Amino acid sequence: MIVCVCHGVNDRALNTVIDSGAQSLREVGDACGAGTDCGQCCRDIVKKLRDRAASVSDRPERAPLSK
Ligand code: FES
Repeated sequence: MIVCVCHGVNDRALNTVIDSGAQSLREVGDACGAGTDCGQCCRDIVKKLRDRAASVSDRPERAPLSK
């Protein structure tokens, strides 16, 4: 599904950008351009950032590897 029409960014590409470390609307824009033109997609991008952050914090902590 296309999230940003202006830059042709779909939800998969947006997930990749967020998983690669983008943590804000500005960082997403810097990485792929989404949200940097008309702004219609900004709300969806912010929601995706929050959803991804929440899903990461819901993951159980891994035990440290022992040698
Ligand atoms: S739809 Fe994303 S900047 Fe226009």
